[in-house]
Amino acid sequence: MTPDGEPPEVAGHTIVHLSDCHLTSTGVLYNGVVDPEVTLAAVVAELRRGQANGHRFDAIVLSGDLTDTGDPDAYRRLRAAVEPLGVPLVYATGNHDVRVAFHRELLGVDDTDPRVQRILLGDRLRIVTLDSTIVGKGHGRLTDDTLAELSRILGTPAPDGTVVVLHHAPVPPPTPLLTYFTLERASRRALADVIAGTDVRLVLAGHHHLAQSGTLGGVPVAVAGSTAIRTDPLGPAGHEHTTRSTAFNLVRLYRDTHTVSVIPVDGAATVFDLDPAGCAAVVAAHPVD
Ligand SMILES: [Fe+2]
Ligand SMILES: [Fe+2]
Repeated sequence: MTPDGEPPEVAGHTIVHLSDCHLTSTGVLYNGVVDPEVTLAAVVAELRRGQANGHRFDAIVLSGDLTDTGDPDAYRRLRAAVEPLGVPLVYATGNHDVRVAFHRELLGVDDTDPRVQRILLGDRLRIVTLDSTIVGKGHGRLTDDTLAELSRILGTPAPDGTVVVLHHAPVPPPTPLLTYFTLERASRRALADVIAGTDVRLVLAGHHHLAQSGTLGGVPVAVAGSTAIRTDPLGPAGHEHTTRSTAFNLVRLYRDTHTVSVIPVDGAATVFDLDPAGCAAVVAAHPVD
């Protein structure tokens, strides 16, 4: 109960948002340093801990760069890691993915064109994925066909609104090098025009390897960091500096708002852990009036 006597708010939908897993071919370290399979396993273990504690996830969104080089075996290992969680999986393509392998291994289709996927959670919340990749390039672009398809889908609202997912984050990048590999500004503007005034509640993205929040066309944008590394936004001028880091975002959608929590997976030590009786004692010691 709130201090003014209202019942607690309950999230209608809880989404786990992972990005930029960069799974490598067997025996290859990411950037020669990080084993991305180990960092992904740490995320999965954290999600299992949550499930064991009674937390339910309605979907896991994976917003691209799921493999580092498009190795089909890496996609199979990704599936083997996340499918046992028993949660609906939403995959979006990143510039390090190879579309043909991504489609075949994760979506079970054999086409080579960019896909717009539409997923309905519980017949209420719509998730739409956009493919912002350009074959052979690092930066991002949304084609006229992709934007037209999104616009057509958004023409009919969903009961609990829409979450749009794409790899290339439609907000300013944190470093000069990423500025060169970002979503083309024209695509960002066009996406803003398409989603403004629609039922889109949130845009989820990756690519920057750094958790960020912003807005696009008045719609909140939440960028998830990488499960493997983190971009340093405060590094020396002109440098592209990254550190080891494993994190994901936890997105909770309520009737009239949402929260995005960045969850570092860092094995941090417990500071305190009040059980329900301990929490009740704190409440009893702090009467509202
Ligand atoms: Fe990436
Ligand atoms: Fe990327």
